[in-house]
Amino acid sequence: MIELKLSELNENKAIKVDLDGTDICVVRQGSEVFAIADLCSHAEASLSEGDVTTGRIECWLHGAEFDLRTGEAVTPPASAPVETYPVSIEGDTVRVG
Ligand code: FES
Repeated sequence: MIELKLSELNENKAIKVDLDGTDICVVRQGSEVFAIADLCSHAEASLSEGDVTTGRIECWLHGAEFDLRTGEAVTPPASAPVETYPVSIEGDTVRVG
């Protein structure tokens, strides 16, 4: 598990964090924070470098979009989901994993 500060997460700006050796993409949207695997399920691209829209992140390499809540691939060319990770928020403390 890792701890982040809610106040240091910028709205709709994905960051990459290391969770026990695995790269995780973390996104804040309003009072919610989402954590999904950083590696796109289509090829070797880092999702945290992609654009965030409401509830989704778009892979910068070929444009597949993933649901931030479920990890589901919602647009091609990706079809497999990416893993999601539990997030809890307590005050300014965000715990991922
Ligand atoms: S690597 Fe992400 S859509 Fe191709």
